[in-house]
Amino acid sequence: MEFEFTNEQKIIRQTAKEFAEAEIAPSSIERDISGKFPTEIVKKLGELGFMGIMVHPDYEGAGLDTVSHVLALIEISKVDASVGVIMSVNNSLVCFGLEKYGSDFIKKKYLTQLASGQKLGAFALSEPEAGSDATKQKTSAVKDGDNYILNGTKNWITNGQSADYFLVMASTDKSKESKGISTFLVEKGWDGFEHGKKEDKLGIRSSDTCSLSFSNVKIPVENLIWEEGKGFNFAMETLNGGRIGIAAQAIGIAEASLEASIKYSKERNAFDSAISNLQAIQFKLADMAVKIDAAKLLTFRAASFKDAGEKYFKEAAMAKLYASKIAVECALEAIQIHGGYGYVREYLVERYLRDAKITEIYEGTSEIQRLVIARALLNS
Ligand code: CAA
Repeated sequence: MEFEFTNEQKIIRQTAKEFAEAEIAPSSIERDISGKFPTEIVKKLGELGFMGIMVHPDYEGAGLDTVSHVLALIEISKVDASVGVIMSVNNSLVCFGLEKYGSDFIKKKYLTQLASGQKLGAFALSEPEAGSDATKQKTSAVKDGDNYILNGTKNWITNGQSADYFLVMASTDKSKESKGISTFLVEKGWDGFEHGKKEDKLGIRSSDTCSLSFSNVKIPVENLIWEEGKGFNFAMETLNGGRIGIAAQAIGIAEASLEASIKYSKERNAFDSAISNLQAIQFKLADMAVKIDAAKLLTFRAASFKDAGEKYFKEAAMAKLYASKIAVECALEAIQIHGGYGYVREYLVERYLRDAKITEIYEGTSEIQRLVIARALLNS
């Protein structure tokens, strides 16, 4: 077992860190308040190769591994978790699935643009009545000659307003339940496809989340991904990788909470010295550091399994479950250490808590992660 990153991985981490501090940090508070989508930042991430980090260079990707993706996402999310999720969804839920299961036509026409960052992707599985119970798809796609006709509603779609290309799960045969679901690539602007208003969220406020509606949208048969009836397997497999991405996002938030707490506790005086001299504060910092390292070990293990071509769904679920839990805990402790200052926007840590909470919800709630882990234990 090795605990050292390669030189290439270290360079990726450093590049992401420098980019995040120089280009993302200065406007992060303003975006949290306004909820404005970071269009220019996403464009620059594309130029750096971060929007298709794991995609082969044949399809305009950076050709790097999942460990590099995690390292970059931690650094980006440490500065702005909204940017982290935009990047994670494009890489893990969109590019990864298209590279693995898309036809040559799909890869050449769509993946190249998504991986190079010229276009942005979104993943549309959830529906008003199909969240955790994702097999209950009401959205339908009916074959009609050389097209499928898509009808239905999706919600909670990350990148929903800004994306150009959408991977949409829909039922092609209701009688077959999960085996009757298929995935389609749908372009923004096609007749009958509309998005709803941007949700006014507690956290990750500058990522855009909205509902989508499809009314008799014509999808050419070439835009079916993988094959009919494989849509649920496609969604589950891409979500396994997505969960590693969200674990990385959560670690970034937790690290930001710890770094802010160390800095503040050295600067703040009480009882005639810096509060970092108080054991009450030191114990909190120590506990945060242990939790962050444990979350990192789980997440890099899942990423390494994925890169090695081994099964990793249980490891990804463990990583997301634990990293999201400790992100909330570390953000709460950071607020406690900051006292009243932790409760106001100026000191950022209140945003860390608001941003952290969603990591326990999207790409499978913590309850779903426990279900995935327990089923793996019981079926092995
Ligand atoms: N990896 C690979 N395959 C999986 C899988 C996994 N983690 N979990 C299930 N599957 C496969 C099963 O092997 C089975 O395949 P076959 O039919 O070929 O045998 C198929 O999926 C059906 O599985 P189950 O019978 O276990 O299905 P279920 O209904 O009992 O449970 C579930 C499935 C685990 C609860 C699943 O519905 C689930 O993960 N729900 C959560 C959905 C989710 O994560 N939504 C996130 C929305 S996307 C989002 O948040 C994105 C964003 O914008 C940020």
